[in-house]
Amino acid sequence: MALPTLLFTLLAALGGVQAVTVYGQTPLVTATSLAPGASYTGLAAYDTRILDPPPLPEPRPPTQFGIQLSATSNNVQGLSIPLSGAFYGFSVEMSVVTQVIGLNGSFIHPPFLNMMSLVAERAGRVHVRVGGNTQDFARMVPSLADGKAIEKQVVNTNNPTQTPGLLYTTEILYLLSNISSLTNVKWYLGVPLNDSTNLALDIVEWGERILGDSLLGFQVGNEPDLYQRHGHRVEGYGPFDYFGEFGDVIAGIKALNVDTANNLIGPSLATGDWYPEDIWNTGFIPAYTESLGALTVEHYPDDNCAALYEGFGTPVDPQQEFARYLNHTAGKDIVSIYLNSTNIAQQAGKPFIMFETNTASCGGFPGISTSFGAALWAIDYGLTMAYSNFTHALLHVGGQNVYYNPFTAVPTNQSSFNEWTVGPIFYSVLAVAETLGSSNNSRIIDLNQNEGNIFTPGYAVYENDNLARLALINFMTDSSGANDYTATISIDGGESGQPNGTPAQIQVKYLVAPSVGDKWNVTWGGQSMGGQFEADGRLKGELKIETIQCDQQANICQVKVPAPGFALVFMTEEAMRESEPASTATFATTAITKAKNTATIDQAVLATSNGNKGMQGRYGSTSAGSNAAPRAAGAYPGAVALLAVVAGAEVVRRAISRHV
Ligand SMILES: *[C@@H]1O[C@H](CO)[C@@H](O)[C@H](O)[C@H]1NC(C)=O
Ligand SMILES: *[C@@H]1O[C@H](CO)[C@@H](O)[C@H](O)[C@H]1NC(C)=O
Ligand SMILES: *[C@@H]1O[C@H](CO)[C@@H](O)[C@H](O)[C@H]1NC(C)=O
Ligand SMILES: *[C@@H]1O[C@H](CO)[C@@H](O)[C@H](O)[C@H]1NC(C)=O
Ligand SMILES: *[C@@H]1O[C@H](CO)[C@@H](O)[C@H](O)[C@H]1NC(C)=O
Ligand SMILES: *[C@@H]1O[C@H](CO)[C@@H](O)[C@H](O)[C@H]1NC(C)=O
Ligand SMILES: *[C@@H]1O[C@H](CO)[C@@H](O)[C@H](O)[C@H]1NC(C)=O
Ligand SMILES: *[C@@H]1O[C@H](CO)[C@@H](O)[C@H](O)[C@H]1NC(C)=O
Repeated sequence: MALPTLLFTLLAALGGVQAVTVYGQTPLVTATSLAPGASYTGLAAYDTRILDPPPLPEPRPPTQFGIQLSATSNNVQGLSIPLSGAFYGFSVEMSVVTQVIGLNGSFIHPPFLNMMSLVAERAGRVHVRVGGNTQDFARMVPSLADGKAIEKQVVNTNNPTQTPGLLYTTEILYLLSNISSLTNVKWYLGVPLNDSTNLALDIVEWGERILGDSLLGFQVGNEPDLYQRHGHRVEGYGPFDYFGEFGDVIAGIKALNVDTANNLIGPSLATGDWYPEDIWNTGFIPAYTESLGALTVEHYPDDNCAALYEGFGTPVDPQQEFARYLNHTAGKDIVSIYLNSTNIAQQAGKPFIMFETNTASCGGFPGISTSFGAALWAIDYGLTMAYSNFTHALLHVGGQNVYYNPFTAVPTNQSSFNEWTVGPIFYSVLAVAETLGSSNNSRIIDLNQNEGNIFTPGYAVYENDNLARLALINFMTDSSGANDYTATISIDGGESGQPNGTPAQIQVKYLVAPSVGDKWNVTWGGQSMGGQFEADGRLKGELKIETIQCDQQANICQVKVPAPGFALVFMTEEAMRESEPASTATFATTAITKAKNTATIDQAVLATSNGNKGMQGRYGSTSAGSNAAPRAAGAYPGAVALLAVVAGAEVVRRAISRHV
């Protein structure tokens, strides 16, 4: 009985907002959840609960309003710092690497590769972090039984803070490296910090060696402000203690004698028990500026711990909670506590990253985390972070036991391709990538449009100083069309001072679904990743981009935004071409998942593979052990043989249909 009491004491102190990653929890079944098939009953990621949209706001927002814009950024106050389309990336809990990324260097899950390829072709690259609470207790070992690359200890399932030990081999790093040789994924890794007197730094040594240029940096400690609360540090552990441990890691790495690129990352506060300012006040940034690659925080706007564990009070009703995700205040509230810190990071010349986030910790909420409403929330939250000078944000992927995944593999004893489940927030990552483009030089502003109405937010993006795109959101649901809104855009000539800079036509790409509660009828430019258990990581269907004729005489372009929906408005042809890859490299769904690649190239796939964007230098062989690929410059030895199993690389030319 001591344990529950102790747990209660520890956990009762938790406030409403904190981040706890869940391990080994029992299946999350709610009375209202319907399992689509007997074998999936209870796994949160496949919960099919559909929520009703919240009632329409009173008073209703105006449905006609103007947006006055300048053609160039010269006179625009308050633009963000220059940003990359790789703004949104993914954070993969270390313990679920084999579930979502791959089993070993020659067994990569093709849907994962396909999805990374989709983002990379829009953004130029994708940032993926492998870490989380499990990184602190992870240790590298020379080998594991049965050739496994990773192995988890069993833990007490009623303790949200008990972290399983994780053993892994260098195979995991080869897996990541092999992925980077196929599509432009860059990785963040974590240094374990559960025991700062016996540092385990092999991941730094081997990570540098194996990943080389594909490595972005090493996170030192995960949510250290919660260490004491979770029983991982003695009472009194404070910001200066973390400061000291960070210094110990730097000293330990120096002693390793490996060529590190000053790429350490911290403090990754959950912003639960400490504020970032508590760390800045220790002198952290100037003391370690030579070693610091980025400054980080982690945060979830809410938690669902009460549904899982005793001592957290009554679980919230997701239907009641839903409205809290469906307006512009939601994202702004999360970001507000970091505005001082993004400014401090900018002064210090460091990137500022939301290193782990999603709809709610403790797995997210059924019905909310898997909804189209969450997709709109994630776009608005992401663009608010961008406007607030965050440089990147990583959406957490927690495996089959959580609701909030952007993508979820089938349970591992099922057939492992073609049957993934893509969550609506994956589309948010594509939408944000396309909103910012691939130039690394987009600056964004919150337009505060429609007199700042929180249900109809919008943003403008200036790329290389010219107005390139608008991102317009409608959080309401009304199938009658009465709450669709029409934004009337007028442009002046900016620097030239001309009052009329309106183009002849603009183009619009929509992310839509019938309701904010919807899960499987989401389309992005008319395309879909497929419904539950239907995804192989590729967009399906024909791309549809609307063309809108402007009235140049009157200096107006009118864009309709459905309720609910997101509209990405391309102000120039060039802005659209940059966001819309002419072709997408995808990876065969059969080749990699066989121990020996027997079946490889789908003939239908070959027939369409005459484009080649992103596939230069890719070679494959259909016979095991043979490989015609030349070694890519700078690739670590061993990063090439893999290509033999990705023989069915496909390139699909996308038809763009225009609807005038
Ligand atoms: C740190 O984690 C390792 C690996 O899980 C474990 O063996 C060790 O006992 C832990 N040390 C402390 C002090 O928690
Ligand atoms: C910003 O953070 C710095 C460093 O902790 C602190 O001195 C300053 O008071 C903070 N400013 C605001 C407005 O919170
Ligand atoms: C808007 O979102 C905020 C933040 O979640 C929430 O507190 C508020 O109740 C929401 N407003 C409405 C009208 O739903
Ligand atoms: C972002 O940084 C720019 C450039 O320093 C600054 O002008 C702007 O006010 C900042 N935005 C916010 C929301 O802090
Ligand atoms: C798959 O795994 C689940 C859970 O471990 C088990 O109940 C089920 O019987 C397995 N199915 C097959 C086909 O092995
Ligand atoms: C964007 O930045 C990344 C990282 O610095 C760089 O590798 C890439 O080449 C840049 N892209 C462009 C178009 O400059
Ligand atoms: C959404 O998709 C589901 C499953 O594919 C389908 O049964 C349902 O009719 C669709 N709903 C709407 C409103 O289109
Ligand atoms: C990778 O995993 C597959 C599937 O478990 C296995 O057949 C293969 O032998 C493994 N390869 C290596 C190098 O461990």
